[in-house]
Amino acid sequence: MSFTVAIDGPAAAGKGTISKGVATHFGFAHLDTGLLYRAVGRRVLEGQEAVATAQALTAEELGQGDLRTAEIAQAASKVAVIPGVRAALVDFQRAFARRAGGAVLDGRDIGTVICPRAEVKLFVTASAEVRAERRYLELSAKGADATREQVLADVRERDARDADRSTAPMKPAEDAVLLDTSDLSIEQALAQAIALIQTKLP
Ligand code: C5P
Repeated sequence: MSFTVAIDGPAAAGKGTISKGVATHFGFAHLDTGLLYRAVGRRVLEGQEAVATAQALTAEELGQGDLRTAEIAQAASKVAVIPGVRAALVDFQRAFARRAGGAVLDGRDIGTVICPRAEVKLFVTASAEVRAERRYLELSAKGADATREQVLADVRERDARDADRSTAPMKPAEDAVLLDTSDLSIEQALAQAIALIQTKLP
């Protein structure tokens, strides 16, 4: 039997950590759908065509190299506005969502477009400043030389591109539960997500 948890929200709001924690807690499979767009973005930076790349994308590619760089994040949000790219990635995500044993998918349009009938929908947010600070600390820990100002500008630019695009814009589904993590520790945010899911389990 399938059970789908859809977790959407902007960059660095805590979706990734919450999704991984939820998947571990309940024994669900986890798909970070941002990696799909990042893998396509990386290929486009290498000179390949976006739609053909998305159509030929394999799961193995998601695990190759570091997809979590600032440059690839921007490239990902640019390919993510192309309807043909989004269409090419739908089947893979829906098949993953229907896996037996439960699945957590995190992204921007999981509750609205990919899995509109997900059993649980969460929209995780935090202020742009809090998210930029978290992303800055993450990037600095990896040795990337970004400034706080640059990271905040990047976060805002990506938010605007993700929220304003015409195909599958980032927005909470009407039946999503909002979780603002600005003033929560990761343990508190995860505990709230787990408690919500617990109430929806069959
Ligand atoms: O979540 P992450 O920051 O890795 O996503 C990178 C980019 O991929 C986002 O800024 C967004 O443009 C795009 N994306 C999307 N739909 C998703 C997941 C990610 O458009 N479901």
